[in-house]
Amino acid sequence: MQIIRTVTELRHSLLEARKAEKWVGFVPTMGYLHAGHLALIGASRAQCDITVVSIFVNSTQFGPNEDLSTYPRDFPRDEKLCQDNGVGILFAPDVKEIYPAQFETFVEPGELAKPLCGTFRPGHFRGVATVVCKLFNMVQPDLAFFGQKDFQQCAVVRRMTNDLNLPVEIVTVPTVREPDGLAMSSRNRSLCPEQRQRALGISRGLYAAMDQFRSGERNAGRLMSIAKEHLATVDRLQYLELVDADTLKPAESPLRRAAVLCVAAFVGSTRLIDNVLLPLPVPPRD
Ligand code: PAF
Repeated sequence: MQIIRTVTELRHSLLEARKAEKWVGFVPTMGYLHAGHLALIGASRAQCDITVVSIFVNSTQFGPNEDLSTYPRDFPRDEKLCQDNGVGILFAPDVKEIYPAQFETFVEPGELAKPLCGTFRPGHFRGVATVVCKLFNMVQPDLAFFGQKDFQQCAVVRRMTNDLNLPVEIVTVPTVREPDGLAMSSRNRSLCPEQRQRALGISRGLYAAMDQFRSGERNAGRLMSIAKEHLATVDRLQYLELVDADTLKPAESPLRRAAVLCVAAFVGSTRLIDNVLLPLPVPPRD
């Protein structure tokens, strides 16, 4: 595995792969890798000839009072995980490589960035879209892999890719969960055991609603009420919303189109997000 710090080196290194018409898969991350990231790497390795992972804690997607300074970082551990999981290139640029002193151009996403996390984290998706667009231009991947846990991020990135004609296919990989259901997140490490236990209300709520949906419940209000009962264990519910899977606007009730039930909640000072997809029409059973 090559560890690369600059765009010039990265371009040079990928030149051979491109000449040989190899497929380049890309997994952008902010590090502190977990099983969710490893699933993205696995998906990339299954479909591509070479996998590039980036590690860059992107300041422009954090608000002034958010956890940029405390965001977990452990490069030696991440490096080993990438090495052990067959990553070809680990791109870990310095801040100045991504945001040089004169930097002033941003990608401004539209309506998809406004609801859900966009309401509570103004500017977040502008930062995400900007860094992802820059990373796509640096890596020039054929496929890029994102986790479904960040459903709105996937939607924003997909739309940006289409709107700006970026020649990359976005692949969404299902959320990886701990055995008890908690969605994998780098932020889970900030939870003490008692908070970790209470954080389970999030996935329990989502799955309780999903069970009722599978049993035929289509009333949006009732599905959200079922989830909300379990969410009593969190310290602060930021949002619980059932939205249309394509537009991210509030889902019409009764549900007739695919919807996503999305949660953001604080447990202690840790902000966690999660979601489940409620597919319609319901796919046939195997
Ligand atoms: O999902 C993340 O880890 C980040 O938002 C991303 C896509 C790496 C951009 O900084």
